[in-house]
Amino acid sequence: MKLFFRIFISILFLSVSNIQAQSSFLAEKDIAVFYPKDFDSVQTLPSLAIIHPLKRKMNLPTDWKTIPIFKTINGKNSIEIQYEKSTDLYGTGEVTGSLRRNGKEITLWNTDNGNYLQYNGDRLYQSHPWILGVREDGTSFGIIADHTWKQEIKLDHPIQMISEGPSFRVIIIEKDSPQEVLKSLAKLTGTIDLPPLWALGYQQSRFSYYPQKQAASIVDEFREREIPLDVLWMDINYMDGFRIFTFDPKGYPDPKKLNDYLHQNNVRSVFMIDPGVKKEEGYFVYDQGTKGNHWTLAENNQAFTGKVWPGQCVFPDYTREETQNWWASLYKDFMSLGIDGVWNDMNEPSVFDGTNGSMPATNMHRGSKKLPAGNHLRYHNVYGMLMVKATREGILNANPNKRPFVLSRSNFMGGQRYAATWTGDNKSTFNYLKESIPMSINLSLSGQPFNGPDIGGFSGDANPELFGQWIALGAYYPFSRNHTSTETVAQEPWAFGKEIENVSRTAINRRYQLLPYLYTLFREASITGMPIMRPIFFADIKDNTLRAEEQAFLLGENLMIIPRWAKNVHEPKGNWQEIKFENKDDGYQSIIKLKPGGIVPISQVVQSTEDYSANRITLLVNLDEEGYAKGDLYDDEKDGFSYREGNFSYFKYEADLINDTQLKVSVKQIEGNRNIEQYYRIGWVKEGEIHYSNWSSSKNIQLKL
Ligand code: GLC
Repeated sequence: MKLFFRIFISILFLSVSNIQAQSSFLAEKDIAVFYPKDFDSVQTLPSLAIIHPLKRKMNLPTDWKTIPIFKTINGKNSIEIQYEKSTDLYGTGEVTGSLRRNGKEITLWNTDNGNYLQYNGDRLYQSHPWILGVREDGTSFGIIADHTWKQEIKLDHPIQMISEGPSFRVIIIEKDSPQEVLKSLAKLTGTIDLPPLWALGYQQSRFSYYPQKQAASIVDEFREREIPLDVLWMDINYMDGFRIFTFDPKGYPDPKKLNDYLHQNNVRSVFMIDPGVKKEEGYFVYDQGTKGNHWTLAENNQAFTGKVWPGQCVFPDYTREETQNWWASLYKDFMSLGIDGVWNDMNEPSVFDGTNGSMPATNMHRGSKKLPAGNHLRYHNVYGMLMVKATREGILNANPNKRPFVLSRSNFMGGQRYAATWTGDNKSTFNYLKESIPMSINLSLSGQPFNGPDIGGFSGDANPELFGQWIALGAYYPFSRNHTSTETVAQEPWAFGKEIENVSRTAINRRYQLLPYLYTLFREASITGMPIMRPIFFADIKDNTLRAEEQAFLLGENLMIIPRWAKNVHEPKGNWQEIKFENKDDGYQSIIKLKPGGIVPISQVVQSTEDYSANRITLLVNLDEEGYAKGDLYDDEKDGFSYREGNFSYFKYEADLINDTQLKVSVKQIEGNRNIEQYYRIGWVKEGEIHYSNWSSSKNIQLKL
């Protein structure tokens, strides 16, 4: 009897503990927040992803569609979410695999995963506890598991999000379209800040240009060969024995001189800084950090040490406000050498001899006023994010009148506020080239628009064919940087012979011609959070045949980029017109199509954004069925913050058909109080040809065929 009673009680207990009651409310009309019954705010808040507190505005309506069920799965705090079978799932940040994420299992645990080979590629350098669901009819939802602890996402039926930490709150967005969901996501987690224009230019990197003379000569080559270049990247070999914030006395005796030379040639420099600090008395960063008590602690309360490039290292505890400030202060002298941007790498953090390549989850972070203390299981996924937050702060303090530029390998949802990203150590093979597209799109669908992979591939040797294909695509990544490892073949655009040099020049020239359009897209991303690289299905969210298309993509709303190797692309319906640039076809260039009803502003080729201006703009027009098209253009001082006080120009263009052979386009400045002198011409894209008008300073331009 007693035994029966016990079994009965435990069954009762099991079922009760598995489905916990919850509280829920609407923070906005279409944004619901759900709390589990045993929610303990100190364990997961303040949120590092969400920028504003979420307050109850309304009760949850009874017909709210997407509802998390809080439960324990294998003893872990979890949620399950039911959804219609025909829904397509996206987002989940930076992982390998196809664009549609249905069926995928992902572990959110930032990992230095070279060539994405470990764990099936289902955990990489960043974590986004975020799922975007697009239903058959286009209506969409977004799910945020709002905590930073290690967790798993299983995109099955139902969706499961399983935490290794305490129970957590869940935020659910419901909208009429995926685009609207992304805008809400941006309101919740923030947007990128408008980058300096130079960060949109083509960028050249390698592990490593050494000595500094070689770095300078790379710039000379670009200028001699007339291949546009905006940024040269300095990888770890510039350092003295890989000690951060130092310079190798032999190879980089005078970094200021190098930077001056680059600047004379209209090129910016980005230098790498890793989080690991060499454990060595007498080295100023180590001494300062030890004195300030800045290191992450092991379980035994001593500074944790582990091996990275310089040997045994200690690691700043960025959860401490004092450490944030100290880290930021290190950039003052560094940036004063004329360095323009900072590349934070290895910040998962990567520890060569550590537990699974990182710190043990039992390490301790001490926190301070803003963040509670917690173990590494809680803070691992935001280690990189907290690092780049401090870095950004530091370079902004050093150069208060310049827009900061930081590139980070590791990050977390919301981290787009602090840094752009690249997708880590890929490989020089065609598969990695192909996979870069769904990866970049899903990062874009997870709130990080400023991203791209290493063009040409990082490990292994590229070859002429592969590099030609990659640069012809890579010119359209939001972040467009060629980078390769040490001891691989050279990968500069001229390294593969004359033919591929020409292919590269043409592709990069096109990126520079598209700068007016690209800059306008970056501005839009900085305001609304709309991605720059978008999936094809954004062109027609009701057309379910487009949902898995991952060879081609949209650049903004008006352009479709189809790589040359793409086969059987599912294109959106309607009269998308190929833009045939003047250059003869070389068999490599991506096909670029202009949307019916779209106007895209382009400019002349320049060798650096320094020479860019919006003074002479060609408006490429493709009319829709009603004989109408529209577009826009953003322009400002390229850097600095005066745009925030209205020192910018924002134009709206509208095209109307007068009759079959006559077109008029009106130019209206609708925002900003910056006046610029402009000349325009129309480029009417029609039946595979571009018909140009004369240049005109008028705000009403006409073209008669
Ligand atoms: C890491 C980075 C790579 C860099 C290398 C040396 O592997 O991902 O981009 O070149 O470290 O710093």
